[in-house]
Amino acid sequence: MATADPVVGRAAAAAYPEVGSGDGGESGGGGGDVFSGVGPIAISAARKVKYVYANDLNPTAVEYLERNIVLNKLERKIEVFNMDARRFISSIYSSQHVHPVTQVVMNLPNDAAEFLDVFRGISWNHQLAVPSCVMPNIHVYGFSKAEDPEYDFHERINLTLGENVSDVEMHRVRLVAPGKWMLCASFTLPVSVAFAKPNYIAC
Ligand SMILES: C[S@@+](CC[C@H](N)C(=O)[O-])C[C@H]1O[C@@H](n2cnc3c(N)ncnc32)[C@H](O)[C@@H]1O
Repeated sequence: MATADPVVGRAAAAAYPEVGSGDGGESGGGGGDVFSGVGPIAISAARKVKYVYANDLNPTAVEYLERNIVLNKLERKIEVFNMDARRFISSIYSSQHVHPVTQVVMNLPNDAAEFLDVFRGISWNHQLAVPSCVMPNIHVYGFSKAEDPEYDFHERINLTLGENVSDVEMHRVRLVAPGKWMLCASFTLPVSVAFAKPNYIAC
């Protein structure tokens, strides 16, 4: 993806309508792209939100992510991380990171929902413990072959977060194989989850 903005920006905006939605606008908070790859979502989001933290575990993806950020002249709006998703999420809510993250995108459809457990108890010792803090909107991608894919994906989210999450907005992204949907679920992190007893130890 060594191409400059318009293509990347338009493609990502079309593919990921949730990017930059909600209260993460230029005047509001920032975004966290947990599985950013070479950066289509992070780059598109950086044009809509105040600041973006972008992460990928793969150093080669990170190398191209950094090149794409430069090509798009977004060095001052995107900070890059090369670490595991759990550590990244924990890290962006630590007090060392000053930009409040109000939108989190998790685009690893096979596994992303399994990483949601990191949000359980995230408020302890973190930025979100501030009483006035806005809970983040999470956009998590997943696959489902179930007869009712929305119900199936919602159940997986509830199971990982250890709570029944209400008001989950679900949209079907596309059919990836006969009977297999890619979905995106969007919801606000419940306060009860953020302040729950953590079942994951942050590194
Ligand atoms: C489906 S790609 C998404 C890329 C990008 N969001 C896009 O739309 O093109 C998933 C990315 O997650 C990264 N990844 C896989 N496991 C990870 C982990 N545990 N922590 C962080 N990144 C991971 C992969 O290296 C890959 O680049």
